[in-house]
Amino acid sequence: MSLHISPMSPSFGAKITGVDLKKAVADDVRHQLQKTLSEFAVLVFPKQFLEPADIVRSGEIFGNLMPQQLKKYILPDFPMVGYNSTKDLPLKDGKLQVRGENYHTDHSNSVCPPRATALSAVKIPATGGDTQFVDVRQAFDDLSNELKEKVIKMRSLHVHESSRSPRMFTKLSEEDLAQIPEVIQPLVIRHPMTGRAALYLNTGRMEGIEGMNLDEGFALINSLYEHATSPQYEYRHQWTEGDFVIWDNRSVMHQANADYNPEEFRYLYRIMIEGDALQAFSQ
Ligand code: SIN
Repeated sequence: MSLHISPMSPSFGAKITGVDLKKAVADDVRHQLQKTLSEFAVLVFPKQFLEPADIVRSGEIFGNLMPQQLKKYILPDFPMVGYNSTKDLPLKDGKLQVRGENYHTDHSNSVCPPRATALSAVKIPATGGDTQFVDVRQAFDDLSNELKEKVIKMRSLHVHESSRSPRMFTKLSEEDLAQIPEVIQPLVIRHPMTGRAALYLNTGRMEGIEGMNLDEGFALINSLYEHATSPQYEYRHQWTEGDFVIWDNRSVMHQANADYNPEEFRYLYRIMIEGDALQAFSQ
């Protein structure tokens, strides 16, 4: 079996075959996978059918695992492994209130947000429930020089839930909430491995732009968000049971979809990989 990397586009998304994540991988494969994740931002490993112990080992190819913030959705025997299950989701007006249903990057209000997040599909509805990703590096590259110049040194406060969040967050226990930080993050970040610039956006958590009045700050955030989430930057992953998908939170935003029959069962394991403090693209 030898590693095969099939890019889905010149620099965004790659399908990985020729590796069995139920077994430990050799060092050269590990390095190649780390490099490919940095370059292509989303890696899809089809037909892996991973058990929780395999998911821990697979995540560790990319770094140390990071604890899940929502402690009520973790596996008791594998505390680093969380899960997204339809059984935990409230129904409103016939529609499931899924977690992550607007484009975001995970835990942007942490000083060191996870460098990557991965999902492993156990049960998938017959139709719908895709996860979408947008390439926020290309979205930055495509801005006009004037707009790049304007935003490149800007910073934004990221909090647990923005006062203008487009989505409701899961209600947290007092104990969990007390652990949740807020932090000022650059609006344009530099990827630590590739050096590429990327827009760093999360409308659910951003509380305006530093030095701008709130309305102007939110108007700028919303226009950058609209640009970055346009279809030309998108890879939409249509899940098949057994898929393991990992993405780089410094290069993409992602979102869930609640467009499936709420009676159907959807269940994915979820892990996160520790990251470092974000670097501004321009110091
Ligand atoms: C998430 O934002 O982590 C959820 C993605 C999904 O369930 O499709």
